[in-house]
Amino acid sequence: MREMPQELISSERIKQRVRELGEEITSDYAGSDLVMVGILKGAFVVMADLVRSVELPARIDFMAVSSYGMDTKSTGVVSIVKDLDLDIRGRDLLVVEDIVDSGLTLDFLLRSLKAREPASLSLFALLDKVEARKVPVEIKYRGFEVPNRFIVGYGLDYAEKYRELPYIGVLEEQKG
Ligand code: IMP
Ligand code: MG
Repeated sequence: MREMPQELISSERIKQRVRELGEEITSDYAGSDLVMVGILKGAFVVMADLVRSVELPARIDFMAVSSYGMDTKSTGVVSIVKDLDLDIRGRDLLVVEDIVDSGLTLDFLLRSLKAREPASLSLFALLDKVEARKVPVEIKYRGFEVPNRFIVGYGLDYAEKYRELPYIGVLEEQKG
């Protein structure tokens, strides 16, 4: 049997926070040409909830990046394994990420998206592991600050498991 995580943020609190941030985005982007880009795989759950809380005719797209390996630590060596389908030039881009940890993945991704000349570029991150940051990343819409522990659930995985949990939890420290 697998080890079950200890709950950190309940599914009710997540729903409430996503709804609040959705309302903020709705008023901030009224009348703009909004494209919401979810970063796979981790952001697929929050993306599904967030797009339904934003009451705007937004376009939806996804990108997948990989930092090498199935390890729990980011290397900063990032490659785009699935690119956007949409052209973002001149549009208002909102990148939707599950968690910002070291910030290395987002730093790379935001630079490469900026080079495509969107009208604006902002970041939504459900979780901010602020103590783990190695490079600064500006998060415009932030769900929750989390401790420097390994987080799973609500889209986030450990070795491709736990993504389906409706809440956010922490795994006990891995031995060895
Ligand atoms: P960063 O480059 O270190 O900011 O993290 C990049 C990616 O690693 C995130 O988008 C997540 O997919 C993953 N990640 C970082 N920390 C965690 C965690 O605590 N649990 C699950 N995935 C994580
Ligand atoms: Mg991710």
